[in-house]
Amino acid sequence: MHTNTISDAIIRVRDLTVRFGERTIFENVSFDVPRGKVFVILGGSGCGKSTLLRTLTGLVTPAQGSISYDEAEFIGSVHEARRAILRKFGILFQSGGLFASMTLAENIALPIQEATNLNEERISEIVAIKLASVGLQSFDAFLPAEISGGMKKRAGIARAMALDPEILFFDEPSAGLDPISSAALDNLIRELNKALGTTMIVVTHELQSIDAIADEVIMLDKSARGIIARGTLSEVKAHTEDKRVYNFFHRIAE
Ligand SMILES: Nc1ncnc2c1ncn2[C@@H]1O[C@H](COP(=O)(O)OP(=O)(O)O)[C@@H](O)[C@H]1O
Ligand SMILES: [Mg+2]
Repeated sequence: MHTNTISDAIIRVRDLTVRFGERTIFENVSFDVPRGKVFVILGGSGCGKSTLLRTLTGLVTPAQGSISYDEAEFIGSVHEARRAILRKFGILFQSGGLFASMTLAENIALPIQEATNLNEERISEIVAIKLASVGLQSFDAFLPAEISGGMKKRAGIARAMALDPEILFFDEPSAGLDPISSAALDNLIRELNKALGTTMIVVTHELQSIDAIADEVIMLDKSARGIIARGTLSEVKAHTEDKRVYNFFHRIAE
């Protein structure tokens, strides 16, 4: 195993700036995402966490900066080069992003049918494996409305994993879940990361989730328009010289 995080980076972000009109959300942000780890983006409401995730996945175009995936530049990429990068991604949308009129099995089969020439039998086998990997093996014929919120998120993860992504993106995965379902989802994220080695990028502001899943974190701040703390979870927690970081980890309202 390499210990040098620089040589092990799956994503390198350099001098990234995002503006909406006149408004700068963050400026000159640089960081590396280590391969195979759970990387958490945290910070208070409105500091740009979702915007950063949307920029990483190509839904927001930055004003400047570079994002490279395994050395391939994403910003400004087109055609096959862009498609090759997008194929590495799996995204868990809020509330799972499932089609309401389709069973769980049909929802998970859809991206496989669209991206491959596999026959229905092979696709069913893959769907069964994906459902089993999130603990929903006996729910293949259920509609999203027939299962709980936590199960919807898990089904959303199964769908995000349908094409074996190298990187899974989650925006506040436990939003709207009760504490027990939320903890179960954290365990699942951790287990899948360990079992498959998939790099996970998770936006959250829930301290319990951060403790349960984070290998490395960056903390964004609205007034700083950028990163105010970074490192392993224990490094960032020990970074108490910064009052904003201390307050976040000690649940102190400003
Ligand atoms: N598409 C957009 N157009 C204009 N402003 C936006 C857009 N998306 C987000 N914002 C603004 O950018 C800021 C950061 O939003 P967001 O990334 O959603 O924060 P967070 O996820 O950390 O709560 C907010 O003030 C939000 O209103
Ligand atoms: Mg958000």
